[in-house]
Amino acid sequence: MNEYFATCTLGLEDALSAELVALGATDVEALRGGVRFFGEPELAYAANLWLRSATRVQELLLRSEVDSPDAMYAAVQTIDWSRCMTVEQTLAVEAAVRDSFSTHSGFVALKVKDAVVDWFRERHRRRPSVDPKDPHLALHLVLRRNVMTLYRNLSGASLHKRGYRPIQVKSPLNEATAAGLLLASDWDRRSAIVDPMCGSATFLIEAAWIAMQRAPGLGRRFAFERWPDFDRDLWIATKQVAEERMLRELPFRFQGSDHHAGALSLAERAIRAAQVHGCVELSQSDVDTFVPSHPFSTVFVNPPWGERLSEEESGDDVEDAWTRLSHFLHRQCGGKTAYVLSGNESLTRLLGLRASRRIPVMVGPIECRLLKYEIRAKSGPAGDQDRGGSA
Ligand SMILES: C[S@@+](CC[C@H](N)C(=O)[O-])C[C@H]1O[C@@H](n2cnc3c(N)ncnc32)[C@H](O)[C@@H]1O
Repeated sequence: MNEYFATCTLGLEDALSAELVALGATDVEALRGGVRFFGEPELAYAANLWLRSATRVQELLLRSEVDSPDAMYAAVQTIDWSRCMTVEQTLAVEAAVRDSFSTHSGFVALKVKDAVVDWFRERHRRRPSVDPKDPHLALHLVLRRNVMTLYRNLSGASLHKRGYRPIQVKSPLNEATAAGLLLASDWDRRSAIVDPMCGSATFLIEAAWIAMQRAPGLGRRFAFERWPDFDRDLWIATKQVAEERMLRELPFRFQGSDHHAGALSLAERAIRAAQVHGCVELSQSDVDTFVPSHPFSTVFVNPPWGERLSEEESGDDVEDAWTRLSHFLHRQCGGKTAYVLSGNESLTRLLGLRASRRIPVMVGPIECRLLKYEIRAKSGPAGDQDRGGSA
């Protein structure tokens, strides 16, 4: 059994723990910003392939008490590095330090790097190079109260990079956070979702993949695939199981709308690349004139909250967007459940609804809430329902 640590956005630790339990991980423990778990190497492969809310899966290489740089160096040299990389490959070390003999993370990272490089030099008379940007082997060191914990990053690039979005878009809500919020919600994963301010359609694509049981890692590569101890047969078998499990069609349609043509064209491209064009429909309209054309159970929406106030997006525009969203929810969503992601409490009040559940989550540097609203079947015009309730 190996020990692993999967990282995630703050607030999504419980959703990630549930994903890991479903994959068969043991001793799953949610910590701040991630989840510790144990399992065989096949679990690590499955975790990279299947985890939706995680950003990185790391394997523990070493945990040791150290009281000096030399003790740290010696501990790192006890590892058989030939299973982690070849001398032709590159490495990088990043470190986080607290309450220890050194306060300088750059210095301890350098010490670990030297220990690995010297390990190779002693055996091969050559040394691997360092590549801080795209290393074959990325090591992560935590030094806390003189206990060093050293991980290797199995994932490589962050797991939110699914491969369906060739260019990074403006929204700070990444794919892993969007998926984590969907998993943290009470959406049944078997019914349609509407996003009336869908932007680049992250909620819709991630929801479609959840409903289709499509493994989010099927379209990308991982760091472990380039390492000497990579088990190709095990990996092929893990991916084959995922391919077989995937549903090709869904008996319902996800629907998205946005008033911005540029956002919709990005969404269209991503939807095709994610191969969900058969079950996600888009249209262009203002949120308060949007009328969904297929049945749905749930609204999932991330309205602008002024996180990027620019020339095109003034405070008035943002208030106007929330007021219009309120009209949509009251007029089109009677009897449905709505989840609204908000980073601004005063804007949230413009909805005129009372939240039945609040899920705190960090989106970029902003502390947000995913708010759940049960919208009454027979609601009047905006403002009639639960006016004055705390948003
Ligand atoms: C924070 S972004 C949503 C990001 C989205 N979740 C994604 O995956 O990219 C807010 C979106 O609301 C849209 N929007 C703002 N006001 C709107 C309105 N009145 N009607 C329709 N869409 C609107 C913007 O064009 C923008 O795409």
